[in-house]
Amino acid sequence: MTHVSMNSLSYQQCINSRCNASYASDEVLFKCTQCGNLLDAAYHWDQIPIPKSMNFFEARWNTPGRSPAASLDFSGVWRFRELLPFVPEQDMVTVGEGRTLLQQADRLAAELGMKAGHLFLQYEGFNPSGSFKDNGMSAAFSMARKLGRSRVACASTGNTSASMALYAAAASTADRPVQAIVFVGSGKIAFGKLSQALNFGALTLQIDGDFDDCMKRVQEAADTLNLYVMNSVNPYRLEGQKTIMYRVLEGLNWEIPDWIIVPGGNLGNSSAFGKAWMELRQLGLVRKVPRLAILNAAGADTLYDLVNNKKLRWNNGCVDEQIVQDTYTAMDHQGYKAHTIASAIEIGRPVNLHKALRALDVMNGVVREVDDDMIRDHMAMVGRFGFGCEPASAASVAGLHLLREEQIIGPDERVVCILTGHQLKDPNATVEYHNPAPHTPHRRYTNSPIKVPNDLNAICRLIESNTPSPGSNA
Ligand code: F0G
Repeated sequence: MTHVSMNSLSYQQCINSRCNASYASDEVLFKCTQCGNLLDAAYHWDQIPIPKSMNFFEARWNTPGRSPAASLDFSGVWRFRELLPFVPEQDMVTVGEGRTLLQQADRLAAELGMKAGHLFLQYEGFNPSGSFKDNGMSAAFSMARKLGRSRVACASTGNTSASMALYAAAASTADRPVQAIVFVGSGKIAFGKLSQALNFGALTLQIDGDFDDCMKRVQEAADTLNLYVMNSVNPYRLEGQKTIMYRVLEGLNWEIPDWIIVPGGNLGNSSAFGKAWMELRQLGLVRKVPRLAILNAAGADTLYDLVNNKKLRWNNGCVDEQIVQDTYTAMDHQGYKAHTIASAIEIGRPVNLHKALRALDVMNGVVREVDDDMIRDHMAMVGRFGFGCEPASAASVAGLHLLREEQIIGPDERVVCILTGHQLKDPNATVEYHNPAPHTPHRRYTNSPIKVPNDLNAICRLIESNTPSPGSNA
């Protein structure tokens, strides 16, 4: 089972059902040359020995020793390698990504009016670079290794660049350095993330523009200089991110939750989730599929606008391109720039829009938006109950709150919020929340440092007067 030759089992396929063009798996393309749409990694599943049940993958937690198979089994991505068979095992790159666990969050559930045992957090901040991106990067670097590419590039709001820079540094050898080239917008990147790109040695270009400008430029530079693009337009990135869903299932003893809630920026993650469930159903490994909620920040709400106001739909792969074009033209006329405290999802033109529409279709999804105050409050709420995440990740919990208020999600449904990035990615946002500027409206979870004289009595009095009472859920 583990030593399948994986070279010819996969190919790439245009997602547009009117086109359906296919390409070899190792052709470096980020869109269909026939129609310009996105490409999927696709598989000849009938030739792949797929395990009969998902329990098979769980057994790999116990693989002992330091053999190559043990290091692949240690990875929360490659443990599921039969479900993303686009490279042979010797090309699979791992730095121990995806060792993340589904966490039951009963106190947070109580705060949101949900029953105990019904809210779970998929805590992707546990990854080596501190965000979910490592799932995708291990996969994209595996294809880069197979293709022999040693110059990789991405546009980023921060986490993609941190992850890519880490993998490039880890994959470099004295004979064969792998160069990471990062495009970030000016002043748009949280310091935790920038510090990672710099420390891992990436060539870091701060463009005079925002993420959308960077995304355009990186693709142009890649065409000109033959760089390998590691953004989620690279279909192999999303293959790695499918495994987040496999681990959620594993965390629930292979029972299917009712809802998956995820923040939406460039829409790679939500797209990968949709593909994961589509394939699991096709392979007969699951009987039903959870619903999906994608959360935009209100200041970066292109998907929300397209789906809820303009009724854009997947429509069996025939997306109404005119609606998209008209929206983007209007955004250009207005000089629209995305703006939110959740800098990770400060994106106006999500490159995976079409795949996300498909995910919404497959998973009977909804799209909502949450404003910066909601994002801040829910980030602090997550921290208060023992988890911790960066602002963008908290959009998922804020979204759950909203969907509870709308009574779309009931108190006894089983909900999984994806916490996409670690709290320490953006310490400024957290410190600012707890030290609000004068005249900031009341913030529910603010926990400001208290000045106290250098005097034991005063210190003890202060501690005694700040001890929470049992049962306060505080
Ligand atoms: N949460 C975090 C912490 C992110 O870094 C991102 C995206 C998202 C959510 C949104 O995910 O793009 O798949 O919809 N960050 C990218 C970056 C854009 O460059 O790091 P998405």
